[in-house]
Amino acid sequence: MLGRAQPDAALSHAHTVFGGPMIALPPGGLRNMKWREVMDAVRRRVFAARHDRKDFGAAVVIGRELERKRITSELHDGLGQALTLIKLTIEDARIRLRGGRTLEARELLDAAVIRICEAIGDVRQICNELNPVLLERLGLVASLASLCARVDERVENLSVRFDCGVQDAEVPGNLRADIFRVAQEALTNALRHGSAKTIDVRLHCTEHGLSLAIEDDGVGFDTLCTATDPDFDGGLGLIGMKHRVEAAGGTFVVQSSVTGGTLVSAIWSV
Ligand SMILES: Nc1ncnc2c1ncn2[C@@H]1O[C@H](COP(=O)(O)OP(=O)(O)O)[C@@H](O)[C@H]1O
Ligand SMILES: [Mg+2]
Repeated sequence: MLGRAQPDAALSHAHTVFGGPMIALPPGGLRNMKWREVMDAVRRRVFAARHDRKDFGAAVVIGRELERKRITSELHDGLGQALTLIKLTIEDARIRLRGGRTLEARELLDAAVIRICEAIGDVRQICNELNPVLLERLGLVASLASLCARVDERVENLSVRFDCGVQDAEVPGNLRADIFRVAQEALTNALRHGSAKTIDVRLHCTEHGLSLAIEDDGVGFDTLCTATDPDFDGGLGLIGMKHRVEAAGGTFVVQSSVTGGTLVSAIWSV
């Protein structure tokens, strides 16, 4: 079993050259490390070197590696198991067909079709997480509208409003994926952590630039505590959003308090 010292040692070997990020992970990358240990190491490194762009960049790249690990396990544990089950069900149906038990075989095949449909849905979801297809097909504004509508429909007692004052042509191509990802993460946080009843997503061109805001009326949180507590047990969502926005020259701000409500905003001069 890996000790705590090893992920730290691995991280200290990650070299970053900013301005064309170049990260060399240790041989074997993070493959052999336990998820929890890697997350702890990343968090310690981020807190220890918050003001050092080089280490911050390394932590973000490792965060991406973690994301790949998560998707691999979704493919392996989720989709892999679903396909195995489908194969077994069809084999079972074949045996029954050979024995002349057509009714039973038909029921099994019906069940297999339902499972195949579920697996297709899983594949779509995984692909969409990797690369929002909607974004390329529909464009940013329609994709955001569709994201908001989907969350609004799927979650009971929640209202998601989308207020948009821009057209796709006004949004530089390099910012589209960033805007979509920030909105997606902030919406997820509002639901998962805030238990919000109302979420407002706003995208506008202002005198200061292109402005994105996601505001929820959920439980809120202590941003100071989250930013300074080295034992904070959260993920890399807020850090990832900040890095994304700042890497494209924007400004990222999170306002929240334990009395309730969270406002995530990003602004890019265009
Ligand atoms: N909209 C929100 N409402 C309440 N708490 C939030 C919200 N957004 C973030 N948080 C708090 O900040 C923490 C860090 O969020 P994040 O970096 O996205 O990581 P993760 O979502 O994986 O926990 C969360 O665990 C939660 O405690
Ligand atoms: Mg999150």
